[in-house]
Order: sequence, then structure tokens, then C-alpha cells
Amino acid sequence: MRVDVDARVVKPYCAIADDIHAQGWSEQPHFLSTALTHALEAECRALAGAGALQPAQVGRGAARMCKLDVRGDCIRWIKPGQSTVCDAYLAEIDALRRALNRELCAGLDEFEGHFAWYAPGTFYVRHRDRFRSDDSRVVTVIAYLNDTWSAEQGGALRLHVDDGGTRDIEPAGGRIVVFLSADIEHEVLPATRERISLTGWFTRRRR
Ligand code: OGA
Ligand code: MN
Repeated sequence: MRVDVDARVVKPYCAIADDIHAQGWSEQPHFLSTALTHALEAECRALAGAGALQPAQVGRGAARMCKLDVRGDCIRWIKPGQSTVCDAYLAEIDALRRALNRELCAGLDEFEGHFAWYAPGTFYVRHRDRFRSDDSRVVTVIAYLNDTWSAEQGGALRLHVDDGGTRDIEPAGGRIVVFLSADIEHEVLPATRERISLTGWFTRRRR
């Protein structure tokens, strides 16, 4: 399937940059087209059907292990050239990276990301995305691939924000959430249905 980046659609890059500057996070409900969202969902489901998703691990180096009481998703890293659909997503995400560099002088060099599939009832406890031993992750970008979503199905991304409160964001298809990896604590609440996302990070070169 061919999914082109639609250059005619005006993307809310300035709104994202303004939000990041003001509060460290941004959510945009209609960032990805329906066609790209569906194609990415189909690719994730095909990978799951082929047994290509792996239980996510926590920790770094020799201490890496599965801990279902910490995170219960199964993941698959995406690579340039693996499919036209993933390449279309990577092109979208590279345009966002360049916009954040332009608007915020963010110095973002690269992107790394994976599909994440949460079975019903699984979750990811409150955490930050930047490792203590490696500060290369600067900005987190999560794209949601679930066709429809309603609040009573659970599965929100809960952000713990500066004012000490929380914001719950439903993982509805087409939405992206962007935040500063070092600053924003967050968690994935359990859902009554499966939950698919594509989670990634803009990184600075490891110096
Ligand atoms: C992560 C994460 C949130 C989400 O993978 O680090 O926090 O909503 N994901 O999928
Ligand atoms: Mn996270």
C-alpha cells in the first residue's frame, strides 16, 4: 500500500513548539491522516500475527529484563526501508524534527521508535523516558493507532504535569503526544481492549 505524506495538509508545528516551550508537552488529535493511521495499525497487527513483537524489557545493559509489574507491552523497533508505511511515518516524523529544531533550536539529530501493543489489562507504570546513564533522548513522540477510542475503555496516557496535577489523554487514532523526555513523568493506564501505539524519541548524538 502506498501512503504519501500529504504536503497540502498544514501541520501544527508552531502550536507543538509553543506548547513544548510553555509547558513541556503537547497533544494534537489529528496529526496523522486516517489512511496512514490505518496502514500503520495494519502493519503492527501483521507483525503481531507473525510473532514479530517481543515483550518489552526495562533497564539497561545486563540488567535488562521483562517486568510485567512495570510494563506489559510487546514491541517491535521500526527501521528505515522496512515498509513504505513505516517510511511514510518516518518522513512525517522527520518533518516534525526539523520544525522543532527550527522553532526551538532543539538540536534533535535522529529518531528511534517502536510499535507497542498492549493486551487488555496491561499497563506501564509511572516513569520518565530518559535513562539515568544516557541522556540522548530529548523529545518523546507517541502516535496512537487505535481506530476509535472512548474514555470508559481506559488506556489513557496519564501525564504528571508541572502544576502537580495530571492530564489523561485517550489513545485515539491519528493523535500524537509530544513531550520533553527528561521532564514529563507519565504512565499508561490499563484498558479493557488492546491498545496500539508507535512510540519514539528524538535523540541528540551521544557525545
Ligand atoms: C513508553 C510510553 C506511552 C504510550 O513507551 O515509554 O510511555 O501511551 N508509552 O504508549
Ligand atoms: Mn514512556
